[in-house]
Amino acid sequence: MTHVKAAITGVFGYVPDYVLTNAELEKMVDTNDEWIISRTGIKERRILKGEGKGSSHMGAEAVKGLLEKTNTSPEEIDLLVCATTTPDFIFPCTANLICDMVGIRNIGSFDIQAACSGFVYALTLASQFIETGKYKKIIVVGADKMSAITDYTDRTTCILFGDGAGAVLLEANNEGYGLLDSIIRSDGVGLPHLNQKAGGSRYPPTHETIDQRQHYVYQDGQQVFKFAVKKMADCSAEIMEKNGLSGDDVAWLVPHQANKRIIEATANRMGVGMDKVMLNIQKYGNTTAATIPLCLWDYESQLKKGDNLVLAAFGGGFTWGTAYVKWAYSADNE
Ligand SMILES: CC(C)(COP(=O)(O)OP(=O)(O)OC[C@H]1O[C@@H](n2cnc3c(N)ncnc32)[C@H](O)[C@@H]1OP(=O)(O)O)[C@@H](O)C(=O)NCCC(=O)NCCS
Repeated sequence: MTHVKAAITGVFGYVPDYVLTNAELEKMVDTNDEWIISRTGIKERRILKGEGKGSSHMGAEAVKGLLEKTNTSPEEIDLLVCATTTPDFIFPCTANLICDMVGIRNIGSFDIQAACSGFVYALTLASQFIETGKYKKIIVVGADKMSAITDYTDRTTCILFGDGAGAVLLEANNEGYGLLDSIIRSDGVGLPHLNQKAGGSRYPPTHETIDQRQHYVYQDGQQVFKFAVKKMADCSAEIMEKNGLSGDDVAWLVPHQANKRIIEATANRMGVGMDKVMLNIQKYGNTTAATIPLCLWDYESQLKKGDNLVLAAFGGGFTWGTAYVKWAYSADNE
């Protein structure tokens, strides 16, 4: 008997128009294009400009495009989950706002916060509702406006992040396509190495927290790098082993785009050549929960029905995770 799986049946992305280049960053902090490219692989990133626009704006644009492209009406959606670390507000959640902006009403919608692993977490969670038969169509969004929490006087972090959103439609599939397996993990040892210190309930905003620049991303890059390389690679190797996949069986590695060197190490460990690795870090930087759906959006035309994809992510917490997806459609015969 074939069990029902959650298949990705459409993907759409949104990135803001404004391009923040390495050359522009050179004018803001003591850095240079050569350093940024050789250490991270990033050439430019997108920044959301405009008063009153948050992550929901980008998420809603991605969802609007997704509904249109897949000929789906808002009434058909059973659930919307948004992975974000930069919600518009502490509450209400960004998923509620996105639903309102695109005309989706009277369904459950909520956010997931797992930093850069958010999309893999959200996909894993959302697929459960389809596997149990409870829901038929779910939208999973990854949306982050990292520029809202990036300190543009800190050269060690401001070169890394960008803004963007991506969304996928999940539908029930009983032909063996979809999310076939996933692993999600976390370890709170990550707190001192990657965090936004103030603004939450432990350290609510005060003049002092603002003066001390505690509302921005803090990162101990080297520590995070070490964990990221190990955990992303271990986890990806584990899911391959569990499912009897060799490097040759994997059509695409879809890695979180934090640093090109971390991606290369993961691919190497999996025995997957860089020609089979989705890469768009050069143009978008690290968009946190949006990196993986933005990769799927960029590479959609190259994907074929039956392709084995391994999604892999690592982020603050620490959190990490991986998903084995059998792609459900070829772009040319949608
Ligand atoms: C942030 C990161 C790119 C820094 O690269 P790195 O190779 O570790 O660099 P280091 O931190 O060792 O710094 C090396 C030198 O470059 C300097 N440097 C740091 N940022 C710089 C910049 N933007 N431009 C120029 N020099 C810079 C440092 O001050 C240091 O100088 P020093 O040797 O004189 O002390 C890297 O650590 C990284 O990618 N970390 C993980 C990020 C990540 O995965 N985050 C996950 C969250 S999703």
